[in-house]
Amino acid sequence: MKAVRIHEYGGIDAVSYEDAPEPELHEGDVLVRVHAAGVNPFDWYVCMGLVQNFVAYDLPVTIGCDVSGVVEKVGPGVQDLAVGDEVYGQTDYTRDGSYAEFVAVPESRLAKKPAFLTHTDAAAIPNVVLAAWDGLFGKETGLDLTVGQTVLINGGAGGIGHLAVQLAKWRGATVIATGSPNNDSFLRGLGADLFVDYTKGLLEDAVVDKVDGVLDTVGGTTEAACVQVVKPGGTYVTCTMLAAPEEAERLGVRAVTASGGNSQAQWPEIARLVDERVITPTVSDTMPLAEARRALELSQAHHVRGKIVLDIA
Ligand SMILES: NC(=O)c1ccc[n+]([C@@H]2O[C@H](COP(=O)([O-])OP(=O)(O)OC[C@H]3O[C@@H](n4cnc5c(N)ncnc54)[C@H](OP(=O)(O)O)[C@@H]3O)[C@@H](O)[C@H]2O)c1
Repeated sequence: MKAVRIHEYGGIDAVSYEDAPEPELHEGDVLVRVHAAGVNPFDWYVCMGLVQNFVAYDLPVTIGCDVSGVVEKVGPGVQDLAVGDEVYGQTDYTRDGSYAEFVAVPESRLAKKPAFLTHTDAAAIPNVVLAAWDGLFGKETGLDLTVGQTVLINGGAGGIGHLAVQLAKWRGATVIATGSPNNDSFLRGLGADLFVDYTKGLLEDAVVDKVDGVLDTVGGTTEAACVQVVKPGGTYVTCTMLAAPEEAERLGVRAVTASGGNSQAQWPEIARLVDERVITPTVSDTMPLAEARRALELSQAHHVRGKIVLDIA
């Protein structure tokens, strides 16, 4: 089969579109014929060797963690899925991934794809919605967001951000979203009550009344300004890494790091919301598998609206 793999850690330049063996099935796995694979920053982090601290890959490895496709084969111990089912979900990112014609995935990580959703749209959802869910609703590592609260979503137009805006509105929150000026109507269209153009002025000047919480999908140098706009007693959640937890503590703001891994068990519940059309992904660009390198470069440039998806089958 064709796959996009790395044989060494060398950034996006190390990516190779090539022939690879079909994946083996473990207990509880199904083999998915991949129709579409979502592109995530995690994929190029893998190429750069940035996840080596917590995942020891046996190289070469196929990258990609979001999949939508059709069950081709069921492995031992599979109970709920059958050959021919249309499924989507996040693969086990410690193993060969979804930038391939076939991927082996534990059935517990998959949900049945609703017929109204294309494979392309379905592949745009799993990784980012799991992070958005933990960031918004997690009790320990999220905002534990409740109806009537106000949340600021920093980086509202990105993969996590555009689904987080929709989930926060569904929960009954008032949503402020930041983005560049060309994403103003996009974000308001998703339900944002207030749009803040981050290219103009200071965040503190645009957000006059402090908010109950911030979900920050950008992090880094934006953290300090985001922490400033949270009420004392409120929460700042980053999807990246906390840069200055001591500054949040000084301001009386709880600061935590969200992770999609914490909400993996909620995947069936989240998939039901997709079935009910509570959240709808935006796919701004699609490419064939052979152009994965270009897709990764675009992701790395950090201005994708919604998602890029590789159309494979
Ligand atoms: N922990 C987890 O489980 C988990 C899971 C998924 C992702 N992540 C991490 O979360 C981060 C976001 O992931 P993602 O997939 O949402 O990324 P993404 O889709 O690549 O984010 C791109 C978006 O960021 C926006 N952006 C760039 N600079 C900005 C700024 N200064 N202020 C506001 N918005 C800005 C861009 O909007 P404009 O074009 O409007 O600038 C663009 O829409 C990444 O670091 C990723 O690794 C973590």
